[in-house]
Amino acid sequence: MSGSHNLLSVEGLQVAYGEAVAVRDLTLNVPQGAIVALVGTNGAGKTTTVQTIAGALRPKSGSVRFDGRNIGGLDCKLTVELGVTLVPEGRLVFPQMTVEENLRMGALNRRAAPNLVRNLERMYDLFPRLKERRLQLGGGMSGGEQQMLAIARGLMAEPRLLILDEPSLGLSPLLVVELFATIRRLNADGVTILLVEQNVRQTLQTAAFAHVIEKGHVALSGTGQELLDNPFVRKAFLGL
Ligand SMILES: Nc1ncnc2c1ncn2[C@@H]1O[C@H](COP(=O)(O)OP(=O)(O)OP(=O)(O)O)[C@@H](O)[C@H]1O
Ligand SMILES: [Mg+2]
Repeated sequence: MSGSHNLLSVEGLQVAYGEAVAVRDLTLNVPQGAIVALVGTNGAGKTTTVQTIAGALRPKSGSVRFDGRNIGGLDCKLTVELGVTLVPEGRLVFPQMTVEENLRMGALNRRAAPNLVRNLERMYDLFPRLKERRLQLGGGMSGGEQQMLAIARGLMAEPRLLILDEPSLGLSPLLVVELFATIRRLNADGVTILLVEQNVRQTLQTAAFAHVIEKGHVALSGTGQELLDNPFVRKAFLGL
């Protein structure tokens, strides 16, 4: 991937909760147009990393550059304006709002708001199930439908970088296959994706590039295929 422009560059990132350092000297790049994955065991620091990139947490040190601009420590509202959207762990749809109201909430930024109607149509094309259920309450949808809704709500912000934190959590194997197909289709449509996942095999088959995070640090990096073939990854994550 040498020569491609990095849409996101994280360098020497350190993040702490009070005295507890959760991310230390973490460096990673996301080339424009790529799917890049972060995998790692529970508590490794994946969520902390992506929350910091999205502006929900402040870095203690290090830099987060998006399209050449330092966004480290900028508020979420500003990072969304610039084109960074995080779909957080745990599919937090608004349960008392309809599907369509949930989608509209995703479009509350200056860049995307003028295109709301067009983007709603686009989401209903991408996710016909959401169209069928547009007037139902978010809380009444199945787990898989809520995950689709959470992703579609993120897309309503017109992200240039879409960050998905554990999107497959709690989905049936069939829905996981569907989800990965959706991720590939979004990427083919031009959305750069940073994907945090515990479903390691499908993630490495999908991502151009991946990083294994351990104790707040990048322990291992490579193409998806390189990591699929790596003895440590095979043993630790693939049960081989
Ligand atoms: N709000 C918090 N306050 C204090 N410590 C936290 C907080 N959130 C996370 N941590 C700690 O920071 C470290 C990294 O957690 P993080 O949630 O980033 O890991 P993760 O890789 O996303 O894990 P998981 O796979 O379980 O989602 C862990 O040691 C965790 O206990
Ligand atoms: Mg996490």
